[in-house]
Amino acid sequence: MTGRRPLVELHVHIEGTLEPEMTFELAARNGVELPWASVDELRRLMEFDDLPSFLSLYYECCAALLTAGDFSDLMHAYLRRAAAAGVVHAEIFFDPQTHTSRGVPIDTVIDGLLDGIERASSLGITAGLILCFLRDRPVEEALATLRSAAPRAQQLLGVGLDSAEVGYPPALFAEVFAEARGLGLRAVAHAGEEGPPAYVVEALDLLGAERIDHGYRALEDPALVARLREDRVPLTVCPFSNVRLKGVESLAAHPLKRMLDEDLLVSVNSDDPAYFGGYIDDNLEAVTHELSLGEDEVERLVLGAIESSFLPGERKAELRDRAIAAGRRA
Ligand code: HPA
Ligand code: ZN
Repeated sequence: MTGRRPLVELHVHIEGTLEPEMTFELAARNGVELPWASVDELRRLMEFDDLPSFLSLYYECCAALLTAGDFSDLMHAYLRRAAAAGVVHAEIFFDPQTHTSRGVPIDTVIDGLLDGIERASSLGITAGLILCFLRDRPVEEALATLRSAAPRAQQLLGVGLDSAEVGYPPALFAEVFAEARGLGLRAVAHAGEEGPPAYVVEALDLLGAERIDHGYRALEDPALVARLREDRVPLTVCPFSNVRLKGVESLAAHPLKRMLDEDLLVSVNSDDPAYFGGYIDDNLEAVTHELSLGEDEVERLVLGAIESSFLPGERKAELRDRAIAAGRRA
């Protein structure tokens, strides 16, 4: 049903699309020794208590990624899977510090990811890259990362902020984001996932974030909810992620329903689909069922993603028309 609508994905970490099978394939190709005996053993470790416990496995698996070809294959595999789900456009996070800290040059990462996007263009899917800073690493490192990518700013869509949230408020990165915006980059930030509503306010006021990734803890602050509604600030919600990282008890209890009821601009996304049990279509289907969403609510999510994207107005209008027409046929 939703598969026929044109979907837009705005919150997916390319490293989080690294399926265990590919981790083993790339490690074998690169002569990298992994600490797990098999794909099954790695899969069994995918039970998490919180965001940090997930991140340690996520960063560990990145050891398999070394060459531009690896990053290209990773991107291509994700885009193929996303296109099969009906995704026509994706704005995709990558974490350069995870790779540069292992000696992989940032240009290798960007070259590979752009090559993967190019290879997937025949599938009818477009994509842009959002360079994320790891907020639990020093601010100086983020600044150096930005400056190393600055010559390629035209090839990037924007910057984001991810990794362990609590104790690392957005305010720390105000200068980095100001410099990024000066390069013409769009700004987004993870906030209000495990961190408090105040981090969402900081991301808006101090980073100039145009979208908030996750953001569901904003519901704890009625004044912030009113602001998000009035300013139509996009919130990129990732239901499977929130349940698997134990921020939310179950899909049936997911605050997405309340966010819709509050008239917030929300979209459904996959975050790290290789770790959390499904891609964007799986997330959409599951919340539709578990939250008993009506057709109008599903349509709001699909249209919300289009509106929240950084696509030009013309393409947004075209996708919006297509989505509405597909909804009528469904
Ligand atoms: N939150 C913060 N950082 C991340 C995530 C997430 O859900 N996934 C990958 N890095
Ligand atoms: Zn995320």
